[in-house]
Amino acid sequence: MKNIQSSFELPCGQVLQNRIAKSAMSENIGTLKNAPTKTLINAYKVWAEGNPGLLITGNVMIDSRALGEPRNVVVEDYTHFDALKQWAETVKGTGVHLWPQLNHPGRQAFASINREVVAPSAVPLKMGGASKMFKVATPMTEDQIWDCIKRFGTSARILKEAGFTGCQIHGAHGYLVSQFLSPNSNTRTDQWGGSLTNRVRFVIEVYREIRKQVGKDYPVGIKINSADFQRGGFSEEESIEVVQLLSREGIDLIEISGGTYEKPAMVKGNRFKKSTVEREAYFLDYIEKARKVTDKPLLLTGGFRTVAGMETALQGGKLDIIGLARPFCLHPHLAQDIFDSKTERFQAPIPKIGIPFLDKMGGVELPWYELQIHRLGRGKKPRPSLGGIWAFLFTLKGMFIKSWMKN
Ligand SMILES: Cc1cc2nc3c(=O)[nH]c(=O)nc-3n(C[C@H](O)[C@H](O)[C@H](O)COP(=O)(O)O)c2cc1C
Repeated sequence: MKNIQSSFELPCGQVLQNRIAKSAMSENIGTLKNAPTKTLINAYKVWAEGNPGLLITGNVMIDSRALGEPRNVVVEDYTHFDALKQWAETVKGTGVHLWPQLNHPGRQAFASINREVVAPSAVPLKMGGASKMFKVATPMTEDQIWDCIKRFGTSARILKEAGFTGCQIHGAHGYLVSQFLSPNSNTRTDQWGGSLTNRVRFVIEVYREIRKQVGKDYPVGIKINSADFQRGGFSEEESIEVVQLLSREGIDLIEISGGTYEKPAMVKGNRFKKSTVEREAYFLDYIEKARKVTDKPLLLTGGFRTVAGMETALQGGKLDIIGLARPFCLHPHLAQDIFDSKTERFQAPIPKIGIPFLDKMGGVELPWYELQIHRLGRGKKPRPSLGGIWAFLFTLKGMFIKSWMKN
């Protein structure tokens, strides 16, 4: 307990008040013009009242032409600045850090809500029947790559000006940064593809651009995959090398996750490897290896459900911060509940609706948790008994309206 409650100083000098972080969960409750809503802001008020060390927002898109979901928040200029300030104010006076997660979906962008899809290479997603929901991407030109790098920095700076206290690059789960890293999705033959030195160039340039725009005292973290878990993909050995390279650059916090839309290990970890079930967190084996090559702070996310599991993981210094996502939807004051010894175990059910290809890609699971966030934002209590069908209908509605707006 003492360990979980102890504060932690990041390399940039900023301090997290304890070792619990809410990992990013795409809330999908911005406006259809991609601004933060009151509901979204209120959900963060509720989470901040629970006193975690760090709240990482759901992915905030850096380009309005590239959305992961219809109601993502987009920060590419000052259009939504007042609402962003209100969002940042939710942690004012609490000691809780609030970091936006910056993202570009690359090829993992639904065709129905994006006119144009760009990615490192024109490699289609292999998701069986669900692949039809995605267009084959157009490979990015050199100018588009540099524009995108610049956008990461600009979004980070605007969000800093709005009052956010740090930021995280989304370098995991098969989105653009992770697409550049993986030889499966990056088949380029120029300076951005081929060797790991070339594939890592994009994320290094993104980090440098953000650092240039936010300054050295501001926390900049990243979420990366321990692996893609796909043949010929981004391997664990390569991931360890990337950890070393980012550490040398001066990154403040490295969050470990894994998987892509094609292989969603980020939310399914314990459903495919026995040893990780026994050890609760999905990527513990990996983090032990990462610890050997970096002294930068490590945050592990995926599978933590018990206070005992969190304490064990923190002991011995294998990792520094515990990340949880789904449990925060049903236990919004999770950190304070731990400190008050109110709860020993946190639930995170897996809702389904019985349509195999949708259930397989987590088609209902993610929207179901988004709906729970919606409830928090509207001042309601979480509802564990909520039917998966409501989540499905909610997603369809958002997709339909955004698709209609696009055309
Ligand atoms: C509704 C939902 C949305 C998510 N959105 C994001 C996201 O925007 N960015 C991200 O890095 N991970 C996202 N994730 C993955 C979580 O951050 C986390 O890695 C994963 O859920 C495993 O942690 P958990 O077992 O504590 O839930 C999302 C997960 C859920 C359930």
